[in-house]
Amino acid sequence: MIIIIDFGSQYNQLIARRVRENHVFCQIEAPDNALEAIRRHSPQGLILSGGPSSIYEAGSPKIDPAVFTLGIPILGICYGMQFMVAALSGRVERAQKREYGFAELSVKDADGLFKGVRRTTTCWMSHGDSIKQLPQGFKATASTANTTFAAACDSRRKLMGVQFHPEVDHTPMGATMLRNFLFDICGCKRSWTMKSFAKEAVAEIHRTVGDKKVVLGLSGGVDSSVTAMLIHQSIGNHLTCIFVDNGLLRKNEAAQLKQTLRQHLQINIRFVNAASLFLKALRGVTDPERKRKIIGRVFMEVFEAEARKIKGAEFLAQGTLYPDVIESVSVFGGPSSVIKSHHNVGGLPKRMKLKLVEPLKYLFKDEVRKLGQQIGLPEKLIWRQPFPGPGLAIRVLGEITANRLNILRDVDEILLEEIRSAGLYKKLWQSFAVLLPIKSVGVMGDARTYENIAAIRAVTSRDAMTADWARLPHELLARVSNRIINEVDGVNRVVYDISSKPPSTIEWE
Ligand code: XMP
Repeated sequence: MIIIIDFGSQYNQLIARRVRENHVFCQIEAPDNALEAIRRHSPQGLILSGGPSSIYEAGSPKIDPAVFTLGIPILGICYGMQFMVAALSGRVERAQKREYGFAELSVKDADGLFKGVRRTTTCWMSHGDSIKQLPQGFKATASTANTTFAAACDSRRKLMGVQFHPEVDHTPMGATMLRNFLFDICGCKRSWTMKSFAKEAVAEIHRTVGDKKVVLGLSGGVDSSVTAMLIHQSIGNHLTCIFVDNGLLRKNEAAQLKQTLRQHLQINIRFVNAASLFLKALRGVTDPERKRKIIGRVFMEVFEAEARKIKGAEFLAQGTLYPDVIESVSVFGGPSSVIKSHHNVGGLPKRMKLKLVEPLKYLFKDEVRKLGQQIGLPEKLIWRQPFPGPGLAIRVLGEITANRLNILRDVDEILLEEIRSAGLYKKLWQSFAVLLPIKSVGVMGDARTYENIAAIRAVTSRDAMTADWARLPHELLARVSNRIINEVDGVNRVVYDISSKPPSTIEWE
């Protein structure tokens, strides 16, 4: 395996993906944890990520320089390279201006990192400081017009660095360079597949849980469904799932999910209808954070009451994914947890004295989908778009009433029907409707109307950390708008959301 040291780059997850796409397992670790992680995992190689800091800034992230003496191949990217050079007594200078964007790379070395790479190729630069003198034993292996030491290496010690970003698509030969590092330099094997992961995960769950009982909150989303299947394959009926219908699901969704889950997951599932409890608690509430907090609290109460009926449960299983874990170890911390309080069962393990089982915590969403395929989860569940825990409550802006929820359900149903028949459902990260808390004037027949506005949101994304609004065909938007206004009572206007994340978020609340 490979360890990636997180110096705070926005591209960290991309480095991890690039490594894993080559069937080599990797983990991202905080700089403070570098030596300990190396001791624990004995990695074949280390990648030091880029980062926004200057090595001269007070408090800039650091690793113990002893790492460079362990004999493990190390690739430093951008800040990672600057840190390595400075730590080994080279010279890094504060640059007057940042170099940002495409640059032409002249490659001097035909092997090592650059095996199979042409003498000139394009690379993507994004760095402030620059290297003025290499440490002893290093030689320059590539340059650009502005950067003499765009890449360098000490082949004896297997230490190397690049100032550009091989992990981004803007560096077309970057994938080749990373492959050279993984296989030629580190000697990794292509042994990490979803088949091997599933086998290992099932064994690991068994080792952790033994003959104890596990409870799991099933939402019908791909993460909790895959978690349930893995655990079920490991411990069978010692797993009990709880599905809470909070009354905030899409049209007919609770009934359809119930049927699909029953049919395809031959697992103990307890269905709890708590719709009225949620609606009562949300009455009159308009503030997004309060909505989220209330839903979180009621969910915990309902879940806890149900879980207590399962005698002898000692573990709580969750479908936590790697991006959540990375955000909590990242040196700069992820901002998303403070922007919106996520609804989950975070407080439960402590309250109920349950231990956690999180078999997916090293996987990205696309890997979870592959794993789902591998372990036989039906397509219907694998390819469901993500749906937020607080459900339609954060899509009915303003006050949530049964009537407004129903209007949104009807709008949403039309949108999804059209998205599906245009063959776009799987291509979009999410597509949904939002009911706005204002009305607008329209004309229907000869009469004036004063009705609700529905907003349509469709985004593409790899992992929800960033997202772009989908360029849906105009004809499709026209059809959706026509149908909504004609078929849904109470809506006389449809708008399309053309904001990306950041600075907007995917959900409106
Ligand atoms: P935002 O709106 O922060 O959403 O860009 C990012 C992704 O997370 C989903 N989301 C949630 N998922 N509980 C969840 O399980 C939540 O409270 C929650 N809030 C947002 C959102 O749908 C998107 O996929």
